[in-house]
Parts: sequence; C-alpha cells; structure tokens
Amino acid sequence: MEPLRIALLGGGTVGSAFYALVQERRADFQALGVEPEFLGVLVRDKGKPRAIPEKLLRTEPFDLLEADLVVEALGGVEVPLRLVLPALEAGIPLITANKALLAEAWNELRPFAEEGLIYHEASVMAGTPALSLLETLRGSELLELYGILNGTTLYILQAMEGGKTYGEALEEAQHLGYAEADPTLDVEGIDAAHKLTLLARLLVDPAFPFEGVEVRGIVGLTPGELEAAQERGERVRLLASLYGEGGRWRARVAPARLPQDHPLVQAKGNALWVRAAPLGEVFVAGPGAGGGATASGLLADLFRFLSGAPGHRPAPLAKGPLGEGCPFPEA
Ligand code: NAP
Ligand code: HSE
Repeated sequence: MEPLRIALLGGGTVGSAFYALVQERRADFQALGVEPEFLGVLVRDKGKPRAIPEKLLRTEPFDLLEADLVVEALGGVEVPLRLVLPALEAGIPLITANKALLAEAWNELRPFAEEGLIYHEASVMAGTPALSLLETLRGSELLELYGILNGTTLYILQAMEGGKTYGEALEEAQHLGYAEADPTLDVEGIDAAHKLTLLARLLVDPAFPFEGVEVRGIVGLTPGELEAAQERGERVRLLASLYGEGGRWRARVAPARLPQDHPLVQAKGNALWVRAAPLGEVFVAGPGAGGGATASGLLADLFRFLSGAPGHRPAPLAKGPLGEGCPFPEA
C-alpha cells in the first residue's frame, strides 16, 4: 500500500468534513492501492471543538513540501496564496474549495492551473458537478449561462418567502455552515462573482478578470419586493449570468426576476443552466454549500488526481460570444 501524504489547510466546516469523509472512505483508497495519511491540519485555534485528532492540529504553517498533495479550505486570499505557492512551484498538486483565492490571485495561480496542478470542483456548487459538466461542454460553444451559485443567499430568499426576516434567515444559513466566514461576501454577491469568474475562465476566456463581473447583492431587497414578484408568478433570485452583449461577454451577478416554473427556480439547491451550440440546453442542480456537500467535491478531486487526470485547466483560448442578450430582468 502506497502512503498518500495529505497536508490539510483549514479544519473548519469544510476541512473537518473532508477529514471525516476520508476516514469513512478508507476502503475506496485501499482499493486504489493507497493509504491516506494526514501530515497536519492547519487551524487558528487548537481549543475549538472539531472532529480531527488534536495531534494533527497545527497553528503554525508546517512543511508542505513533504506532502503528496495539499488540500486547502482556509478561505481568504493572501494567507492561502503565501502557503500554497511554494508547494505548487515544487510541483505538488493543490485541491481547493477556495473560489476567492482562484478568482483574485489568478495572475499568480494561472500558470499552475494551465499545468493541470490545480483541482477545484468544490469551489463552484460544492460537490454538485459544475466544472466537470462545463469541461464536457467544451465540445460545444457557449451561447449563454445562468446560475444560482450561492447557497446562503438562496437560503435567505427562500426563507424570506416563507415569512422569516432577513436577519433570522442569515443567522440560520450561518448556523448550517453555508455562509462565508465574512457573510458580506455572500449577501453582497461577491462569492457568486468569484464563482462566475471561474466558470467564465473555464469556458470562454482564460484571462477573464474578476473585476469584469458587475456585482449587486441581495442587501436591501424587501419582503414586499419578494411578495410582489410572487404575485406576478415570478421569484427573485441572486442570478449569475454570462451572455453576449454588443459583441462582448457580459458577466453579471444581481437579483433577477425569473418565472417561477423556470428550472433554476424549481431546483431546491444551487443550479446552473447553459445553452451551447450544437449541444443545446443543459441543466444541473444540487447542494451548493455545506460541509459534507463540499467535502464530496474535494474528495472527487482527490479521486480524479489518483486516477492520473489533470486538474481543471482554463479554456485554451478566448472566444467572443455567439449569442446576444439576457431574458431575465433585474429585480
Ligand atoms: P471555516 O469554517 O471558517 O474554516 C476555515 C478554517 O481555516 C478554520 O479551521 C480556521 O481555523 C482555519 N483558518 C482560517 N484562517 C487561518 C489562518 N490565517 N491560519 C490558520 N488557520 C486558519 O470556513 P469553511 O466554511 O470551512 O470554508 C473554507 C473554504 O471553503 C473557504 O474558501 C470557503 O469559501 C470554501 N467553501 C466553503 C463552503 C461551505 O459551504 N462552507 C462551500 C464551498 C467552498 P479555526 O477553526 O481555528 O478558526
Ligand atoms: N458561502 C458559499 C455559499 C459557500 O453560500 O454558496 C459555498 O461556496
């Protein structure tokens, strides 16, 4: 049995769930001829209760160059970037759930992504296939893409439609482990913009800038506005859109009005609807946040790595849009 030395950065909602899932799935690893071994788990506070043996917890960065791969679930940009860069430079693959890191530190990370060293299925829609789905769509050309990519704001909007206040709903989403450590990233639309940036780079332009996404969040939406939409047979959702306008790609995150029978609304969880040529329309939906759901995406990447498949490479070249316009008005 070959040892598989994993350096885990972060032991919070996602990191702890990933650690637990690896223990549960030891038989799958053994069938692949490997024995996972955690070199350490980086956290801030060893005293917090968590389902990771205390002997593995580290509050100071440890030697990642000893690892066969690094799994990052810290959050933020500067701290994880400083930690993962030397490992990537040494050719050690990175599996990450951190969309902020990828969206905002692309100049530094792009060469390693192009090399196939970065796996990040969990960064968009957690364990629900989004990146692998879009990779398959490379056989077609994108016309338009719409997604409900943030679990926290979906939870808040659905709870407000059920009569909860914005504050109550946000607190519940935090309690469920859906929200970012700083939930303004969720409610101001920034998290969805990070994810849309990653999708755009995968499909239409490897250099797509995070700053190129127009962003408006759900802060300020009132129960009255949600109710009025329902009376018109619509629902308000935080929609991430990528479509052609004036011969250029327009990327936008904003509350939008959707017909209530649209698959994006009917889906219980996060969802992605894509139209591509010659393929046609494709839709996927599922959990987009939470410890177990995200750990599932990280583990899928770990199996992908063990199968010898490369990480998620960006689109090989930039392409202009073939279609024009978005059918969903802003709310
Ligand atoms: P979290 O619960 O806040 O966990 C973050 C972990 O990182 C904690 O263990 C924390 O230590 C540790 N940490 C943070 N900064 C650190 C530092 N400077 N030095 C040492 N340790 C540090 O966050 P999470 O929900 O697991 O999210 C982690 C990442 O996954 C984020 O990038 C997030 O966007 C992404 N993600 C989350 C979800 C989700 O549903 N939660 C889904 C997809 C992707 P302590 O425990 O000691 O505080
Ligand atoms: N905070 C994020 C969300 C976590 O609510 O969707 C999943 O990326």
